[in-house]
Amino acid sequence: MNSLPNQQQRVLSGMRPTGALHLGHYHGVLKNWIKLQHEYECYFFVADWHALTTHYEDVQILERSVWDMVIDWLAVGVNPGSATLFIQSQVPEHAELHLLLSMITPLGWLERVPSYKDQQEKLRERDLATYGFLGYPLLQSADILVYKAGLVPVGEDQVAHVEMTREVARRFNHMYGREPGFEDKVEQAIKKMGKKNAKLYKELRRKFQEQGDIEALSTAQALLDGQQNIKLSDKERLFGYLEGGGRIILPEPDALLTPASKMPGLDGQKMSKSYGNTIALREDPEIISEKLRKMPTDPARVRRTDPGDPEKCPVWKLHQVYSNDEVCSWVQEGCKTAGIGCLDCKTPVIDAVLKELAPIQERAREYEQDMGLVQNIMKEGRDRAREVARETLAEVRQVMGLEYR
Ligand code: TRP
Ligand code: SF4
Repeated sequence: MNSLPNQQQRVLSGMRPTGALHLGHYHGVLKNWIKLQHEYECYFFVADWHALTTHYEDVQILERSVWDMVIDWLAVGVNPGSATLFIQSQVPEHAELHLLLSMITPLGWLERVPSYKDQQEKLRERDLATYGFLGYPLLQSADILVYKAGLVPVGEDQVAHVEMTREVARRFNHMYGREPGFEDKVEQAIKKMGKKNAKLYKELRRKFQEQGDIEALSTAQALLDGQQNIKLSDKERLFGYLEGGGRIILPEPDALLTPASKMPGLDGQKMSKSYGNTIALREDPEIISEKLRKMPTDPARVRRTDPGDPEKCPVWKLHQVYSNDEVCSWVQEGCKTAGIGCLDCKTPVIDAVLKELAPIQERAREYEQDMGLVQNIMKEGRDRAREVARETLAEVRQVMGLEYR
C-alpha cells in the first residue's frame, strides 16, 4: 500500500515508442488505460528516452515511431480530455530528477534489477554495457516520482522497476525528509487542524503505530486529505509522521498489475512484434483477412474430413477473445466432428476483428490527416505535465540544498 489516500491517486504509465501498435497492445495495455482515464487523474507518456537506452543507434526512426504510437493511442480512445498525454523528453524535469536520484541510488540496486541482465542477454546484438541502460529503471523511477503517482499500471515484467522506485523514494524521504526541527513543525501543523481533528489524528496515529491498524492509517490519511487550511509541505510532514518517518516528499507508488493480454498472435503465441505474428491496428483490412485465412490450425486437420481439437488450434484462442458462447459451441462441435471447415470457422473471427478495427482506423485516418492537431494535443499535455513536474522539482531542489537565494 502506498501512503496516498485513495481518492487522489494519480495514475502514471509510459510506453516506449515502438511504432505502430497492434491488437496485443490494444487488448492488453490500451483498453486498461481507457478504463483508468475515467477513474483517476491519469498521465500517459511516450518514453522516448527509454527507447534510446537500447536503440541509441536507430534515431532516424524515432520520431516516426513516436507519432505512430500517439496516433494509435488517440485512435483507440485514449482521450486527451480525460488524461494528460505527453512525450517524456519534452518534460526535462524527468531528467533532472533522474540525475538527483542517481546521487543516492546504490549501484547494486540497479545491477540487481532482473531486466538488466535479461535484456542484455536478449539483445545480444546491441552493446548495452552503457551508463544509460544501467540507469533505465531509475529513469523510470523519476518518471513516476516526478508526478508523485500513486498507481503505476504495468505488466509483470515491470513490477521490479516499481519496487525499486519504492526503495528509492523511501531512501530519499529518509535522507531529506528529516529536516531540523521536524517534530516541532509537526506539532505546529497538528494544531492547525483544530482541537477535535488534532486529537483524532493523534489517536489514529497511535493506533497504527502501536497496533499496526491499517484501517486507522487510511482514516488518518483521509482526514489529512480533507484539511483545507494546512499547506502542502505541512501535509507531507503529517503524512510522514503518521508512518513514523520524516516528511514524505516523494510518496511510494504501487504497481497496478495489468492482466496479461489474452490476445494471441497469428501463431498462437503471445502477440509480439518480435515473433512476427501481429495484426497492426492500422493494417489494411484485406491484408488482415488474408493473414487470418492463412493462420495455422490444428495440424491434425489435414483434410476437411479430419476432425480436430480446438485446444490445439490458435484460431480457437481468437474465438475466446471475440466470439460469444453460441459461436464458441458451434466451433467446438463443428471442429470435433469435422462438421465445419477451418475457413468456415475463421469467418466469424475475421468479421469480428475487422468490425473492431473499422472505427479505430477511421479515427486514425482523421488524425493522420491533421498532424497539427496531434502535435497540439501533445503540447498541451506537455504543459500540464510540466506544471506538476516543476512543483516537485522545486521541493526536491529545496530539500537537497539547491535553492540559492
Ligand atoms: N519501462 C516501461 C516499459 O518498458 C515503460 C516506462 C517508462 C514506464 N517509464 C515508465 C512505465 C513509468 C510505467 C511508469 O514498458
Ligand atoms: Fe481450428 Fe476451427 Fe479448424 Fe478447429 S475448425 S482446427 S478450431 S480453425
